[in-house]
Amino acid sequence: MNHTLNRRAFLGQAASGVALTMGATHVARAASPNERIALGVVGMSRGLALARTFGTTAGCTIKYVCDVDTGRMENAVAAVSSLPGQNPEGVTDFRRILDDAAVDALVFALPVHWHAPAAIMACNAGKHVYVEKPCCHNPAEGELLLAAARKHNRCVQMGNQRRSSVVIREAIEKLHDGAIGRCYFVRAWYAALRGSIGRGNEAPVPERLDYDLWQGPAPRRPYRDNVIPYNWHWLWHWGSGELGNNGTHGLDLCRWGLQVDYPVRVTAAGGRYRHDDDQETPDTHAVSYDFPDGKTITWEGLSCNQPGAGGNNFGATFYGEKGSLVLGSAAYALRDQDGNVLEEADGNVGDHEHAENFLDAIRQDSPQVLRSEIEGGYKSTLLSLLGNIAYRTGDTLHCDKQGRIQDNEAAQALWQREYEPGWEPTV
Ligand SMILES: NC(=O)c1ccc[n+]([C@@H]2O[C@H](COP(=O)([O-])OP(=O)(O)OC[C@H]3O[C@@H](n4cnc5c(N)ncnc54)[C@H](O)[C@@H]3O)[C@@H](O)[C@H]2O)c1
Repeated sequence: MNHTLNRRAFLGQAASGVALTMGATHVARAASPNERIALGVVGMSRGLALARTFGTTAGCTIKYVCDVDTGRMENAVAAVSSLPGQNPEGVTDFRRILDDAAVDALVFALPVHWHAPAAIMACNAGKHVYVEKPCCHNPAEGELLLAAARKHNRCVQMGNQRRSSVVIREAIEKLHDGAIGRCYFVRAWYAALRGSIGRGNEAPVPERLDYDLWQGPAPRRPYRDNVIPYNWHWLWHWGSGELGNNGTHGLDLCRWGLQVDYPVRVTAAGGRYRHDDDQETPDTHAVSYDFPDGKTITWEGLSCNQPGAGGNNFGATFYGEKGSLVLGSAAYALRDQDGNVLEEADGNVGDHEHAENFLDAIRQDSPQVLRSEIEGGYKSTLLSLLGNIAYRTGDTLHCDKQGRIQDNEAAQALWQREYEPGWEPTV
């Protein structure tokens, strides 16, 4: 891409002694539709899958792959270099990528506590951002991420790829066109057979891991041997449980289909029932959301039992006055009120299409082109966070028109988190 403006902006900032990563105003450039987009991809587990997806999408160069675990970083360099035309540099600190004016965008697939702070740093550095779901660990930093995207006019897309799935888009269009009449209730679910995370012990940090950078914005805790990788999902300090993890995908479909934004009432039930171990987040979780104008979403999460409803481990069923629409992971079935199937189709979850949509938005320099622009991504993530807050407090939450919790100090205290000093996100 043409980086003249970007470089000039960067040099100007550097000369005046203002660090680009600390909230300097970005000078947006206009992109031509045919230019190559250069990416840095950060977090080499889900991120490696994304690097493969973007790396096999026309007009996209993976300039960097990054992981704080040198083993994962080196493995990713080899894997992505085997793709035609790709030859990424491996780095362990993504701030190096922020400093490279030739990079257009960063892709973050990180432990949840890192998502919003990293995405905000990238926006502040003038980069576009693809951030995995859930886009934030707490609502306050989600609001801050939205503010960063607006301030710097960056394209920020969340990784709920079904927004770009051809088959799911077709199903939602039918729903919005009235295929089941007025629709007022949707039940979503996720089911899996996850094992115990056991009881961990403090242990020496593996040599290949930069644990300080892994922790980043989260207040420091000693390294334990059953948290990294992946099990951080089940500890509130870093993760947001199954509801934040797979629930965000399902709730996003519900919110999209029902055409709702913020709930007025949120309730939760459940617990950690299956295994006696270090996991703090529930393995059995039922949440409900009431919206203005008489619409309700429920989500059911079973981390240690399967199958889910109707024999599928992921789905959402919409109910209307004339019938129902069930969405699977990448399929749908439309039924009349007697349960007769009127139409059905299947396809794929939309990974490539979502990546292409992100690149198109960058080329057009237009966040409006994004199918999961961060404002909507945040609203869907907020549903999962509110469901967690209702669970943790044991209270019914009442929310205002922006989804902010009313009249409940214990719940409001979970709207934000403490940060490691020096790592507080700022826009
Ligand atoms: N959209 C989807 O379908 C989908 C699928 C899987 C995962 N995800 C999301 O992707 C995210 C990551 O999940 P995962 O399963 O890959 O977790 P993981 O723990 O397996 O991997 C995270 C990786 O990030 C690295 N990392 C941590 N901090 C880093 C930093 N500061 N800089 C660079 N690397 C860092 C870790 O070393 C690790 O390799 C989660 O938010 C998850 O919800 C989305």
